[in-house]
Amino acid sequence: MKNKVYIETYGCQMNFADSEIVGAILTKEGYGIVSDINEADFILINTCAIRDNAEQRIRKRLRELKALQRQRQWVRIGILGCMAERLQKQLMEEEDNVSFIVGPDAYRKLPEMLGHIKDGEKLAETLLSEVETYADIEPVRYDTNGITAYISIMRGCQNYCAYCVVPYTRGRERSRDPETIVGEARDLFEKGYREVTLLGQNVNSYRWKAESGKQEAESEFVGFPQLMAMVAEVSPLLRVRFATSHPKDLSDELLQVMARYDNICKCIHLPVQSGSERMLKLMNRRYTPEWYLNRIDAIRRYLPTCSITTDVIAGFCSETEEDHQATLEMFRKVRYDYAYMFKFSMRPNTYAAKHLQDDIPDDVKTRRLEEIIALQGEIALENNKKEIGKTYEVLIEGVSHRSEQQLFGRNSQNKVIVFDRGSLEPGQYAMIRVTRCTSATLIGEVVDNK
Ligand code: SAH
Ligand code: SF4
Ligand code: F3S
Repeated sequence: MKNKVYIETYGCQMNFADSEIVGAILTKEGYGIVSDINEADFILINTCAIRDNAEQRIRKRLRELKALQRQRQWVRIGILGCMAERLQKQLMEEEDNVSFIVGPDAYRKLPEMLGHIKDGEKLAETLLSEVETYADIEPVRYDTNGITAYISIMRGCQNYCAYCVVPYTRGRERSRDPETIVGEARDLFEKGYREVTLLGQNVNSYRWKAESGKQEAESEFVGFPQLMAMVAEVSPLLRVRFATSHPKDLSDELLQVMARYDNICKCIHLPVQSGSERMLKLMNRRYTPEWYLNRIDAIRRYLPTCSITTDVIAGFCSETEEDHQATLEMFRKVRYDYAYMFKFSMRPNTYAAKHLQDDIPDDVKTRRLEEIIALQGEIALENNKKEIGKTYEVLIEGVSHRSEQQLFGRNSQNKVIVFDRGSLEPGQYAMIRVTRCTSATLIGEVVDNK
């Protein structure tokens, strides 16, 4: 029986979490998930459409897989995720070795589809849902370290930032039942996991209305701060992180909840995208640089030890040197601990594609991006140097890539710390004093084993 499935995942954490849901759906119906692609009868590629280069990478991968298919002619390839949703059937017309495509809200259809594919049929399921959250599915955690895990708490996005394809690939925003989220966190903790990251494109919009049929009182809603508290209560030994929050609704209430619980990690990812008021408006981000900096002040006030990370786009439509300088200025003011930095890539069907011009030449985009990267590199190194001498509680995640004798873990601020193994094991907490650093990593020594 041809029932072995290999899943390859690209894109954001949400895609990785979805692949674990896909694994669960297929396993339940008798399919086996394999970690060696050469054993697979079905290859599922969970794709990302956020920038053109993400899609080009998938197309290249499909060409590579042709060789494998020549040797194992029964192997069928399916495309899942955001590129499947964006391109729909067109993708099967353009890529002749793709047999089926499945959008992010249609994964429950996979077992049935794989059954048909065996007969050589070509299939597409890309209907988006207003309610699907896969709340009842317990993800199959493969490729796991057994210590850290993701939990999807909501799906979709309707912020419609002008450059962004996600609202079109992931559909309307919807929140998952908090009881199932807490249940999943508790279950992970009992299995030995020590950290969960709650995932959504904009977690601050999390909102669940209890189905009690009573009056719509505000207290009947579970919002993100309440959800964070509920998950933090699972155990003081379970760390809780989250991603991503949109600056426009990062509330003081959330910061207060974060301050109240030691096990809620002190790290906030707050994508700025640009430091220019004009660019932010054109991007439809719905905040000004002043508003953003006010939120940064609030974080520093409530959570003095909190690290702050960001996303930024260089060379959005009509960006001037002055706009670019405003972004550099924003980086100097906030002094991010880490940043994901991107060159603007025009995505079909977005507001920008319909109404704006991709008018910044590629070499200018590249130069601006490089300036941001260089500045951020200096800032990260300076920030890390300030950590020398400090002691942090670290959750040990595994053995260092460089040496068997060293372990690595993260502090609450999400910084990676490498240190000599001693008698410690992954999964334990340890107190580590930072002794040296690079711009990416802290190096430390054990001071006290808890
Ligand atoms: N929901 C998250 C972001 C998801 S996409 C948020 O709103 O913060 C991750 C990052 O990719 C974005 O923050 C943005 O910086 C970048 N990005 C999105 N669309 C892009 C595009 N068309 N070109 C370049 N970068 C883009
Ligand atoms: Fe895209 Fe904006 Fe939604 Fe983030 S908030 S996923 S950038 S539309
Ligand atoms: Fe990419 Fe889709 Fe995530 S476009 S970034 S995989 S939501």
